[in-house]
Amino acid sequence: PSPPLIIAVDGPAASGKGTLSRRLAAYYGLAYLDTGMLYRGVGWVMLSRQLDPRRVDDAEAAARAFSLDDIADADIRTPDVGRAASQVAVQPPVRAALLTYQRRFAAAPPNGLRGAVLDGRDIGTVVCPDAPVKLYVTADTEVRAHRRWSELMARDARSLSFENVLEDIRRRDARDAGREEAPMRPAADAVIIDTTTLDPDEVFARALREIDRRLPS
Ligand code: CDP
Ligand code: CDP
Repeated sequence: PSPPLIIAVDGPAASGKGTLSRRLAAYYGLAYLDTGMLYRGVGWVMLSRQLDPRRVDDAEAAARAFSLDDIADADIRTPDVGRAASQVAVQPPVRAALLTYQRRFAAAPPNGLRGAVLDGRDIGTVVCPDAPVKLYVTADTEVRAHRRWSELMARDARSLSFENVLEDIRRRDARDAGREEAPMRPAADAVIIDTTTLDPDEVFARALREIDRRLPS
């Protein structure tokens, strides 16, 4: 049997990579893994135990013991959890612990599906460097901050000012791009999709064109 078909999708916060990845997975009949959930999950565990996410021993232990069941009912889409996620994500032992799960998912997608879409920061560079399709989804920082702010407002109108969300995204992007281990960056063979002036349908159409060009039907 041929190896699983992997589509790697990377990019900065609120660029639209999750929205695109879910649509691609549904369209091609592939499994989907939001790898940010794993880092957010470990960040959430640290915060809920009142541990400092920057403490490497505690963060490593949390990552090793982590299971997606731990966060089943947790609200992990918040800015606080995003910040904690990017703090644990700097630490090589945390990344190593989460890498095993991601590689297994890619090697044997659940439900017997023929492949998977994984999204994150280092899928094309580290997790699945041999993926035949790599997309790097990006957009201007202010546009991304506006998208995230709208989402947060829709969930809880008391939440945050736009300026806070923008500042948060700037810090997180800088930490994600500047870390030593598996920094956020496009793989050499990634297609870059700038979504600044595109809506989700246009991004999807653009991705399909790029993918069809790269995949044997
Ligand atoms: O959805 P959003 O883009 O805001 O973030 P996310 O994808 O949920 O990821 C949260 C954080 O996890 C990121 O800011 C990264 O620090 C980290 N992450 C990572 O280091 N590597 C990945 N493959 C995925 C996420
Ligand atoms: O996964 P990531 O954090 O990169 O972003 P997302 O959660 O997929 O998208 C953030 C928000 O931007 C969602 O509310 C999308 O509907 C919206 N959006 C998009 O995904 N793509 C566009 N081209 C424009 C807006």
